[in-house]
Amino acid sequence: MNDPLRVAVVISGRGSNLRALHLAAHPSTYAIVGVISDKPTAQGLTYARQCRLPTTVVDPHDYPDTGQFERALAHAIDDVRPDIVALAGFLRILSAAFVDRFHGRLINIHPSLLPAFPGLDTHRRALAAGATEHGATVHYVTPQVDGGPIIAQSRLVVEAGEDPTQLAKRVLALEHTLYPQVLTALARARHAPPPTPPS
Ligand code: GRF
Repeated sequence: MNDPLRVAVVISGRGSNLRALHLAAHPSTYAIVGVISDKPTAQGLTYARQCRLPTTVVDPHDYPDTGQFERALAHAIDDVRPDIVALAGFLRILSAAFVDRFHGRLINIHPSLLPAFPGLDTHRRALAAGATEHGATVHYVTPQVDGGPIIAQSRLVVEAGEDPTQLAKRVLALEHTLYPQVLTALARARHAPPPTPPS
């Protein structure tokens, strides 16, 4: 059997996507090899510790500037030798230097159907705009915030009278299926035979 895809998960908070990723990990697809948080109090860290996943906190307050914080973050990620770095509710904007260092290996999940509603407060904004469809996107991270190439999306129909809290809950449920599917697909794609050339 092939070695699983090594995934580092980078979080700042609740960690429900981390949990979904962890529950769907499998020796034949991907393994979470480390959980890194910029917040010592992140709820997701508690979950990771309970599951005995290796955790590291890189707290920006411990560094004199963003550059040094990002270098420490990059080292913490490198230490677990990931094939893929999955941002899951990581609440900081990363510099172009950081993003370039992990080019092609850094992915994120965002709670909207990108390119619609990049940034924060996506559910309220989608409702205010009268969107009839909404959902979640997994994409490669580039220096343009929420602007990198899309890997996969999951969508739902907005219901009449739905409020942002209800919509957020339904989108989060989609995220919990979508993100593990993407990691599983990325893991399997490593071993797929090359496409047959046209005859
Ligand atoms: C999710 O909605 C994700 O799309 C966004 O931040 C939220 C993180 O939630 N980037 P959780 O920490 O995984 O519960």
